[in-house]
Amino acid sequence: MAEVVLENVSKVYPGGVKAVKNMNLKIENKEFFVLVGPSGCGKTTTLRMIAGLEEITEGEVRIGERVVNNVPPKDRDIAMVFQNYALYPHMTVYKNMAFGLKLRKYPKKEIDARVHEAARILGIEQLLDRKPKQLSGGQRQRVAVGRAIVRQPKAFLFDEPLSNLDAKLRVETRAELKKLHRKLQTTTIYVTHDQEEAMTLGDKVVVMMDGIVQQVDHPLKIYNKPVNRFVAGFLGTPPMNFFDGKIIFRNDDVYFDDGANKILLPAAWRERLAKYKDKPMVLGVRPEHFFPKPEGDFAGKENFMMVKVEVFEPLGDKMDVYLASKVHPHIVCRIDSKVKVEENAEIPIYIDVNKVHVFEPGETGVNVTMEPEGD
Ligand SMILES: Nc1ncnc2c1ncn2[C@@H]1O[C@H](COP(=O)(O)OP(=O)(O)OP(=O)(O)O)[C@@H](O)[C@H]1O
Ligand SMILES: [Mg+2]
Repeated sequence: MAEVVLENVSKVYPGGVKAVKNMNLKIENKEFFVLVGPSGCGKTTTLRMIAGLEEITEGEVRIGERVVNNVPPKDRDIAMVFQNYALYPHMTVYKNMAFGLKLRKYPKKEIDARVHEAARILGIEQLLDRKPKQLSGGQRQRVAVGRAIVRQPKAFLFDEPLSNLDAKLRVETRAELKKLHRKLQTTTIYVTHDQEEAMTLGDKVVVMMDGIVQQVDHPLKIYNKPVNRFVAGFLGTPPMNFFDGKIIFRNDDVYFDDGANKILLPAAWRERLAKYKDKPMVLGVRPEHFFPKPEGDFAGKENFMMVKVEVFEPLGDKMDVYLASKVHPHIVCRIDSKVKVEENAEIPIYIDVNKVHVFEPGETGVNVTMEPEGD
């Protein structure tokens, strides 16, 4: 087991595509670390550089104490599981799992012990004599993981290992992977473009865009304190609502004015927002931070928007309600499904202003409402 460190790592592909730009990451020993971001942001490239399957253009990758830039993949002591599990079709499950160890000339007894132990952990002992085509997608996926486990590597690298599974199996296998990690405690670097997978699996998550690290932290910290608009919009479903508008001051109070509604912001932000007075900014509100009634410490304040109810989607105990204001045609809020709402009704919708964010304009506009570092 080992920590994995990337220092100022960049990748430029022949032809000039800059896939990863000056990346700094520290994956602690035993950590489940998730790389997430939209298609093409450089996740696979990063993983392949760690695995040694892709040359590192600039910077340094260390596994444990060792700089591995020039160490061939087979000597890096890591195991990678891909999206397409690439099992050998003519070999049984047992042989598929044993193959890597056989190549490395492990004694037969040791191979046998390791394969059976991995099969037991994964609950696939009864499948050892089958061929891959006699397995379900989920079972094949487990064999691929088994093949990685038997190696007892310093780290596991996963590249979207669940994306070939149907939705239900994906959720189940996700939970199994998490349990497996708790048991084996092997440093794991896991790539996905699915924000929900990142949130549920990661001890720590890095959000990437265009080859650049946007934020690295515990998933809930990123969710609650996104550093910029891109990160805020990427994590969470339905995604955060963004309102264009400006910061205005009235008497001593600070408001966000979107052209149709003036939202009173927390008094604590007055100083922080003073320099953005009358500037175009963006207000971010998560769907669950809208309420049909003024409640708690924001009761009776001017923190609502007048909206028209378009449609609602029941989800069980909650429902998503799609709304439109005079200036914003697509607002989504998630509220208690017991609340009575009628399509086409004009209603006020209240905002928990302590949970909102104000961003500078632009795709990666900085979150200016974050408290200064240190908390
Ligand atoms: N072998 C290659 N040669 C040139 N460009 C490449 C090569 N492989 C990837 N790229 C480019 O590098 C960028 C990053 O690709 P990468 O595969 O790392 O993205 P990703 O985040 O894994 O995306 P996805 O979620 O679609 O798998 C993309 O612009 C891609 O087109
Ligand atoms: Mg990829």
